[in-house]
Amino acid sequence: MTPGRLRLGVNIDHVATIRNARGGDHPDPVRAAQIVAACGGDGITAHLREDRRHIRDEDLARIQAATSLPLNLEMAATEEMLAIALRHKPHAACIVPERREERTTEGGLDAAGQHNRLYPLVQRLLDADIRVSLFIAPEIAQIDAAIRLNAPVVELHTGEYAHAEGAARAVELKRIADMAALAARNGIEPHAGHGLTYDNVQPIAAIPQLAELNIGHYLIGEAIFTGLEASVLKMRELMDAARP
Ligand code: PXP
Repeated sequence: MTPGRLRLGVNIDHVATIRNARGGDHPDPVRAAQIVAACGGDGITAHLREDRRHIRDEDLARIQAATSLPLNLEMAATEEMLAIALRHKPHAACIVPERREERTTEGGLDAAGQHNRLYPLVQRLLDADIRVSLFIAPEIAQIDAAIRLNAPVVELHTGEYAHAEGAARAVELKRIADMAALAARNGIEPHAGHGLTYDNVQPIAAIPQLAELNIGHYLIGEAIFTGLEASVLKMRELMDAARP
């Protein structure tokens, strides 16, 4: 990991989606993790969903054994996922919503509305030296909630930005930039992710407070045409070019 540089975490879930379509073991997300490590990715992100639709429990240990990159485990705020996180001790745990009632209209975790449920879970992860991140909409109320939850990291949801066009996109970009600055002023490390592509990544990458982007679907989709190494390297190049 190069300090000070915007980190790229690669979400390898959809390699597992393709594997699971046939129920066998190919393509193996572990091989994807190894390629990401070999071509300069800064981390592996994997979402263990309650229905195990892509990443499976046994993949976590295999990914951890196969590369020395930090693993960012995306997980719902449930006792089951907490136990798994405590067992595997990933570098980071990013709390994401899985059910409708857990999310804001934009799709981020409703950290503000669920303080009492989240607080003990976040503390138990922190006590285990797991860096907790909250995947939240770029809203003041959610940043305030992250502060009250002692979260060291927030991941700002870029889905609305990615879907917006023209003037609406500029509004979304400003919200993300403002909330990244607000998080940083309060000692929280801001990350961003969801829906990022070659076409829309650069304005996000240019936000100076952001420390990490987590990108999955587009990189794995491009890898079908160009290979994973090429798609990761091109994203890396665009991110670097966006920063002075
Ligand atoms: N960050 C988080 C918290 C996610 O849940 C996801 C996957 O939805 C991503 C980043 C990556 O998003 P995408 O696959 O759209 O690049």
